[in-house]
Amino acid sequence: MHKEVELFDVYQETLVKLDGEGIILVAGNPPNLMTIGWATLGHIWNKQIMTVLVRPVRHTFKLMESARDFSVCVLPDQYKKELGICGTRSGRDLNKAEACNFTIEKCARTESFYISESAIHFECRIVHKHFLDAATLDQGIVKKYYPLRDFHMVYYGEILGIYRNA
Ligand SMILES: Cc1cc2nc3c(=O)[nH]c(=O)nc-3n(C[C@H](O)[C@H](O)[C@H](O)COP(=O)(O)O)c2cc1C
Repeated sequence: MHKEVELFDVYQETLVKLDGEGIILVAGNPPNLMTIGWATLGHIWNKQIMTVLVRPVRHTFKLMESARDFSVCVLPDQYKKELGICGTRSGRDLNKAEACNFTIEKCARTESFYISESAIHFECRIVHKHFLDAATLDQGIVKKYYPLRDFHMVYYGEILGIYRNA
């Protein structure tokens, strides 16, 4: 059962996973799963907002560009292998949900889908997006993370629901 919870109930656990094996961004229909390590959780426009960063080369980018919403799933510790698959294989040539044997369910508040095996999942509506701006980004970061100048698109998702697998 997936019980609705508050951001503060899941904030620390989500950030620990981001700093570790990653979490999963789910986009598209049928849903594609992509491991992400970069995201923020915060408060803008009097809304709770989650930002995710997607490089244009990803299959997920194409899906996000035609999506109105997305979901983000935090998996329990035993899913390291699956996080590896979703972080190295592309949805262009593999149905990653099937390859990982995940059960996919429809979100309650958006048109997106989530992984039923998740410990936590976020349902988000895209309210803004932009490419990182090379001109104003710290030049050390540009040099370290963007030698190919393939700057991420940043998607701002209004968090419409947060659920914990109870
Ligand atoms: C731990 C980890 C974190 C990652 N974080 C991101 C990220 O935040 N943004 C991104 O664009 N790619 C990230 N990636 C790379 C994508 O997950 C990877 O390129 C994936 O195969 C893309 O899948 P797709 O082509 O189906 O979209 C990460 C990979 C790993 C292993």
